[in-house]
Amino acid sequence: MFIFHISDLHYSYQGEKGIKRLRHVLDSIKKQDVKPDVIMVTGDLINRGFSDYGPVFQMLKQLETPFLCITGNHDNSEKLIAALKQYAPEHPLPEHDKRLDYVCNDFPLRFIALDSFMDGAAGGSVDDGQLQWLEEKLADDDGKPTVVMVHQFTVNAGLNFFDIKTRQPWCDKFNEIISRHRDTVKLVACGHVHNGIHGTIAGVPIVASFSANWEAYYDFRPVEEMQDFKRQAGYYIHRFDGESIVSYAVTAGNAEPS
Ligand SMILES: [Fe+2]
Repeated sequence: MFIFHISDLHYSYQGEKGIKRLRHVLDSIKKQDVKPDVIMVTGDLINRGFSDYGPVFQMLKQLETPFLCITGNHDNSEKLIAALKQYAPEHPLPEHDKRLDYVCNDFPLRFIALDSFMDGAAGGSVDDGQLQWLEEKLADDDGKPTVVMVHQFTVNAGLNFFDIKTRQPWCDKFNEIISRHRDTVKLVACGHVHNGIHGTIAGVPIVASFSANWEAYYDFRPVEEMQDFKRQAGYYIHRFDGESIVSYAVTAGNAEPS
């Protein structure tokens, strides 16, 4: 089973430049030898202040593949849920009022999506009720291999903006749950850090996909402002063989002349 993983589309940040970069990523996905069974979109489909999900869903639907979305800190849970109902009615619907928390059981891998949106908070928010729901779902289904999708990279990224400036305590509680269910969870899929970054939670791989709009500077040392960095656009292919997942970083070339 092939899962393609894109993130942080931030439609329509940077106008035509950002849209061109997204198109470039989607074109690269179309040209792959293998076809995705499902596409994960790990949040920030739109950029804050832009509220129309129509254009971005139009672009995603051109891939003619089922996709699974979660909210990022630039999205809005209620607006994203409403847009999914309107533009992608086949998409799983949330189990919680006003939160895009859901389970998708349509594949050999189970997907659990956790909504971490909180208006104006880069580090997001997941409340104790949602965490309890996650724990209960992970205990279901006799340990069916599972991918958990959440926007923020929940382990320390070693980066100033994402750790020191914005990381929230819910991440530690989340990591404890993943750790307790490390035999069930095969992958935690995220975005948010605008780079392809890997880590582990008690041996479970956590992978953040590249942004389809802009790549962030690695601020190992504090910088004044988060900066864009010129790097190739990209995405991930995760291959599940029935037991474990191998993740392939794919760079899709430069969308614009450097
Ligand atoms: Fe984000």
